[in-house]
Amino acid sequence: MDVFEAIRWRRSVRKFAPRKIEREKVLQILEAARIAPSSSNRQTWHFVVIDDKSIIEQIPRQVAMGDKLIIKWLKDAPLVIAGCYTKAMTHYIAQLFGHENHLVDISIAMTHICLAATALGIGTCFVGWFHHKKLKKLLGIPNRYDIAVLLVLGYPADESTGQGIGGIAPRPRKALEKIVSYNRFGEKF
Ligand SMILES: Cc1cc2nc3c(=O)[nH]c(=O)nc-3n(C[C@H](O)[C@H](O)[C@H](O)COP(=O)(O)O)c2cc1C
Repeated sequence: MDVFEAIRWRRSVRKFAPRKIEREKVLQILEAARIAPSSSNRQTWHFVVIDDKSIIEQIPRQVAMGDKLIIKWLKDAPLVIAGCYTKAMTHYIAQLFGHENHLVDISIAMTHICLAATALGIGTCFVGWFHHKKLKKLLGIPNRYDIAVLLVLGYPADESTGQGIGGIAPRPRKALEKIVSYNRFGEKF
C-alpha cells in the first residue's frame, strides 16, 4: 500500500478482532514515529505502548471524561499507544512567538504511526477524550511529560476492505474549495 492508499483507506476503527498485533509490526510502526520530523530535531516525544489487558480495560472505566460510554469500545483493543511529549528550550522559545511546536511534533509522529499501521492492515482510532491527570497516573507518566493523544490499534473485526479499512464507509469531509485559499486567506484557489 503506498502512502496515498493508506491515507485514503484509513478509517477510525472501533471494533477489533481478538488478535494480537505481532511484535515485528509494532516495531515497524514505532520506527515510523522514530524517524518523523520534529522542530529543531528535538524529538521530545515518548510513546507508551500498552498491551496489558488489565491496563487497557481501566482506561474507559477510570479516565473517560463525562459519559464513560464514549470510549467504552476501547477496552477490547489489543494495543494502545499513548503519544507523550515534553518541551525543549527551543519549544519554549517558539511559544514566545506563538508556535505550539511541541504539539505539532507529537501530532506528526502519531500520524506516522497511524498511517504505518494502516499500511499494515491494522485499524486505528485517535482518542482525545480522556482525563489527562488520571491517565498520567494510570500509566506512571512523569510530571514533565504530557499526553497529547492516544492511538488505539487492532486488526479490524470486519476484515472486508470494500469501503476502507474495517469495511467502514468514509465519513464526510468538507469540499476543497471550503478549506483552501490562494495566496491570501479567502481568495479562491
Ligand atoms: C485528536 C483526535 C481526537 C479524537 N478523539 C476521539 C475520541 O475520544 N473518541 C472517538 O471515538 N474518536 C475520536 N477521534 C476520531 C474522530 O472522531 C474521527 O477521526 C473523525 O470522526 C473522522 O472519522 P474517520 O477517522 O473515520 O475519518 C479523534 C480524532 C482525533 C484526530
